[in-house]
Amino acid sequence: MDQSTSSDIILDINGEKHALSVDHRTTLLDALRERLDLTGTKKGCDQGQCGACTVLLDGQRAVSCLQFAVAAEGRHITTIEGIADGERMHPVQQAFLEFDGYQCGYCTPGQICSAVAMLEEHAAGWPSAVTDDVRAEAAPPPLTAEEIRERMSGNLCRCGAYVQIVEAVAQAATRGKETGMLEGSETEASA
Ligand code: FES
Ligand code: FES
Repeated sequence: MDQSTSSDIILDINGEKHALSVDHRTTLLDALRERLDLTGTKKGCDQGQCGACTVLLDGQRAVSCLQFAVAAEGRHITTIEGIADGERMHPVQQAFLEFDGYQCGYCTPGQICSAVAMLEEHAAGWPSAVTDDVRAEAAPPPLTAEEIRERMSGNLCRCGAYVQIVEAVAQAATRGKETGMLEGSETEASA
């Protein structure tokens, strides 16, 4: 292998180590899909605009089409294949099923990964562009439909399933709080 343009790397994906040699220009998205057969992560625009390729890097959402695979070495990568707890679906996955948060399903893995991290961000008190009180000491704002729409605005759905997606995310937040998975997520989206 030409070391000037390629590197041997180890990627930590869903708790498993994967060794591979990649051209330095290979995106994390292409490494996942084309090299490791983890095709749950989808390619939409391939330029950071649609969110279909969203994965979690150390628990925070990232568009994998704008991430070089070599730069992801040493990070904990979670893809849609690793969101469930074994056979037990994540509350966000369960809510998407129950509330029909998809039509064709192409954007769904990215929507779910994004929602999982978004709910953690909200519970941790991160404000959004539509949050009224952005002071650090302020409590997390109620998770209204407006808040969910803004916080999920990086994930496009060509089918236009947004109404059900908002319902699903709101329901997942409520259940996450009830089960102690997410502290502080007050929801008003269904009100
Ligand atoms: S495929 Fe990455 S943002 Fe669209
Ligand atoms: S469900 Fe078809 S693109 Fe979102």
